[in-house]
Amino acid sequence: MKGVILAGGLGTRLYPLTKITNKHLLPVGKEPMILNPVKQLISAGINNILVVTSKEHMGDVVRLLGSGRDYGCSFTFKVQEEAKGIANALLLAEDFVNKDSITVILGDNIATHSIKPYVDNFIRQESGAKVLLRKVSDPERYGVAALDEQNVIEIEEKPNKPKSDYAVIGIYMFDHKVFDIIKSIRPSSRGEYEITSVNNVYLEKKELTYDILGGEWTDAGTFESLQYANEILLKYDNTIIDS
Ligand code: DAU
Repeated sequence: MKGVILAGGLGTRLYPLTKITNKHLLPVGKEPMILNPVKQLISAGINNILVVTSKEHMGDVVRLLGSGRDYGCSFTFKVQEEAKGIANALLLAEDFVNKDSITVILGDNIATHSIKPYVDNFIRQESGAKVLLRKVSDPERYGVAALDEQNVIEIEEKPNKPKSDYAVIGIYMFDHKVFDIIKSIRPSSRGEYEITSVNNVYLEKKELTYDILGGEWTDAGTFESLQYANEILLKYDNTIIDS
């Protein structure tokens, strides 16, 4: 199992905090945001990690993370030339991943408790994909999963009329087939290659499972959510709690 952290994008919702600094380098609790996904992957036993970011910020990201020696992991870096969406950023991981499976974390997703149990579930699953869900009060901001008793039926990206309160959070597990799937999808109406389109292909093939994420979680892409991210990480001194 390899790890991928997606830290590209423009961070426009946090402007002007992101005018100079990459969103994922902003402080959350006592550390730069991106260290939470790094520690999450390591807590799940994943030490071989690819970080994708924009060319404007690659220098700063490498200066922060280095080779990985300080964190007990190994980093590889790739540049996303244009912010064409999460699936577009993930496609850059194809050679790095090869025939392995991956856990992907969006660099602005902050979680307090280890994702290890879900990664272990996915390893037992052997193929396909897994998404993590979380009940939220504002589902229209997220990918939203419609559920029956056992399964995800459909995922809609930022729906006006959400069919449930379950957000698909930015932590995903995929087998290596994900890259062929990304190459088969089309951009959405907002011009982005959406990770939701990728997950829906796995869903159609009946190869998508889900778990409900425990502990505390938020994205940190808006001023309100960034403030909440600060609160929850300060509470645990930026350490990852065993689940
Ligand atoms: O936080 C969970 C949500 O993240 C999911 O529920 C949505 O389904 C998913 O689309 C995403 O929604 P956002 O609107 O929050 O995505 P955003 O554009 O803010 O991008 C999230 C991260 O993905 C960002 O911090 C870095 C990475 N990213 C994004 C884009 C658009 C890239 O690396 N490259 C990109 O081109």
